[in-house]
Amino acid sequence: MADIQLSKYHVSKDIGFLLEPLQDVLPDYFEPWNRLAKSLPELVASHKFRDAVKEMPLLDQSKLAGYRQKRLAHLQLVLITSGYLWQEGEGGAVQRLPECVSKPLWNVSNDLGLKPVLTYADICLTNCKVKNGDIEVMYNLPGGAGTEWFLKVSGLVELAFGKSGQAVQNVLDGVKANDKAKMASGFTDLTATIGNMQTALARMNENLTPEHFYNGVRPFLNGFGGPASPISGGLVYEGVSDKPVTMIGGSAAQSSTMQVLDGLLGITHSPEKQAFLDEIRNYMPPSHKQMLADLTNMPRKVPQVVAETKDANLTKAFNGCVAAFVQYRSYHIQVVTKYIVTASKSDSPKSLAYKDTGKSDLIPFLKEVRDDTEKVQQ
Ligand code: HEM
Repeated sequence: MADIQLSKYHVSKDIGFLLEPLQDVLPDYFEPWNRLAKSLPELVASHKFRDAVKEMPLLDQSKLAGYRQKRLAHLQLVLITSGYLWQEGEGGAVQRLPECVSKPLWNVSNDLGLKPVLTYADICLTNCKVKNGDIEVMYNLPGGAGTEWFLKVSGLVELAFGKSGQAVQNVLDGVKANDKAKMASGFTDLTATIGNMQTALARMNENLTPEHFYNGVRPFLNGFGGPASPISGGLVYEGVSDKPVTMIGGSAAQSSTMQVLDGLLGITHSPEKQAFLDEIRNYMPPSHKQMLADLTNMPRKVPQVVAETKDANLTKAFNGCVAAFVQYRSYHIQVVTKYIVTASKSDSPKSLAYKDTGKSDLIPFLKEVRDDTEKVQQ
């Protein structure tokens, strides 16, 4: 069996998919990006952000040094894009992104293998700094404390998963070596991890109202192109091409955490549902996407390995882990119901990424994904 080592995919055993903490700002040459990204919430609130962006000089992104500076630059530029597009709300969006943003964003995105749009990899994985076991948010979108809380709690969920790097590795190594004790210990630790993710996710309730999420946060995560988008024709990246580009919206569905658990626990979904989850992978950093592909393609599926051992302890540990994951997905559905379905006060709520792919059955989709999880119980 292929050797899957987390480090090969730039996944930390302590903080998972989160990027090791960065400096908050880029070198002096990039001061206009530093300034606009930091002052975005106030300038959008006073309707001055768009004009400020238009005055921004065109900077040369090739002066960025190394991977981490590029990730920070990508974060700043997608925040600037988001503020620019959505400053006047979903009804007042513009169809063209000025060259001073679009060109460096396009080039940095190509270098990183990321999409030139706000992704979860930006606002969570790059933006959330781990500090003394807690999460500190570097850059905020408009919306004040409620918005910052949404970003922070997403980071806390990611961190709760991230701490389980060794457990994930134990399952993989255990399967490879047919080591029942190692697999069982991995599943037991992962069960606790999934419980911790749920506890972290529940913290959304502490400081984020449904109205604020739906009307204050969600619009700034919008993608473009497609019938559900306020920029239905797509976005023109001036100075790059006159052909409008289509992108799905930024969503925590772009987190690798649940897809890793799917791969590890051998959970499969129907081709239609998997097509959406695969599309989401295109919005992840390439090494994380590669890890998911390698997990999905493991020749010996974990449920099969567990069944073949006929070991009661191992089966119990596996089933416990699956049950925790089912419960977590059910809890997440409650969160989506509260923050999207109920908050929308409409029969046709706008989602984050899902509706951008032309589908409408949001909650049935999430329930089916949850039910697929349950099917691997033994
Ligand atoms: C206020 C909090 C949240 C809301 C309103 C929310 C909403 C949604 C929505 C609408 C979807 C469907 C796909 C889409 O349209 O983007 C979705 C899917 C998903 N979300 Fe969330 N979400 C929240 C928090 C989180 C967090 C913190 C994570 C993990 C860090 C997460 C992970 C996922 C995943 C992995 C999916 C794909 C479906 C699955 O694997 O079960 N979500 N979410």
